[in-house]
Amino acid sequence: MIRILSVIALRNIEKIGSYCGPYSVLSPCKYRLHCLSFCTKPTGTHTAMDLSDMRKKYKADDQCFEEDQLVSLDPMKQFGNWFDEATKCPEIGEPNAMCIATATKEGHPSARMVLLKGFSHEGFRFFSNYESRKGKELESNPHACLVFYWEPLNRQIRIEGTVERIPYQSSCDYFHSRPKSSQIGAVVSRQSTVIPNREYLRQKNAELEERYKDTDVPMPDYWGGYIVKPHTIEFWQGQTNRLHDRIVFTRPKEGETELKDLQHQAAGGWVYQRLSP
Ligand SMILES: Cc1cc2nc3c(=O)[nH]c(=O)nc-3n(C[C@H](O)[C@H](O)[C@H](O)COP(=O)(O)O)c2cc1C
Repeated sequence: MIRILSVIALRNIEKIGSYCGPYSVLSPCKYRLHCLSFCTKPTGTHTAMDLSDMRKKYKADDQCFEEDQLVSLDPMKQFGNWFDEATKCPEIGEPNAMCIATATKEGHPSARMVLLKGFSHEGFRFFSNYESRKGKELESNPHACLVFYWEPLNRQIRIEGTVERIPYQSSCDYFHSRPKSSQIGAVVSRQSTVIPNREYLRQKNAELEERYKDTDVPMPDYWGGYIVKPHTIEFWQGQTNRLHDRIVFTRPKEGETELKDLQHQAAGGWVYQRLSP
């Protein structure tokens, strides 16, 4: 049924697309719809969509990202600059949304979105449930990768590092700065566990709202913050001709003092190099 509805929806999108003029007069949102109508090709079967022509225009070569355009050779400052530009871009609804990939001890990966809640030279902070799937994976394998993708800016930042829990008091401070409903939500949800239905959550939420109506909500011990301490930060800028720019900063391992071939000294103990796209 869902498949049939999707096909009907896509056919209608194609019709809408054919009524629209050149995309230069369309809003970014309508442009995407227009683009979709021309780029998706039903393959005849209801089970496959050919998206091979689906690509967007990136920047022209004169807008490329050269090393001299780095605002700083300190990658955390460079991150701050791109993050700031993302927050000022009205088309980006949640600039602090990032994908975090974790893995089990055996190396089986999993990924999901979380919200970045702070960054400094120490690393990138986010909050979650310590007993969730990601929490368990981080417990046994404290390595993670973060990815930001700011589509309207054609930018991606990839960060790899080791993960630690932040101090209990810092988690508490943040927990109590959130709206009470979010605090209760964190208590209600034993994240990533199986539950019978939505009603189960509704009831638990109502009980806790009643219980804490006149008092503070204590932070559950299964909830708190993490910090990702980066050893690699890659800045990717998309270009129209697919010659995308990739500048990657790494922290040399202990004892590594010599610069490798095509590696350059950065700031704050980092080095950087350019990668082929
Ligand atoms: C935009 C967005 C932001 C999210 N932010 C968080 C967050 O900050 N912390 C969190 O635990 N889950 C967040 N989630 C939910 C997670 O993606 C995920 O469903 C949840 O953390 C359970 O993941 P896990 O079972 O892999 O541990 C967010 C989801 C989206 C789509």
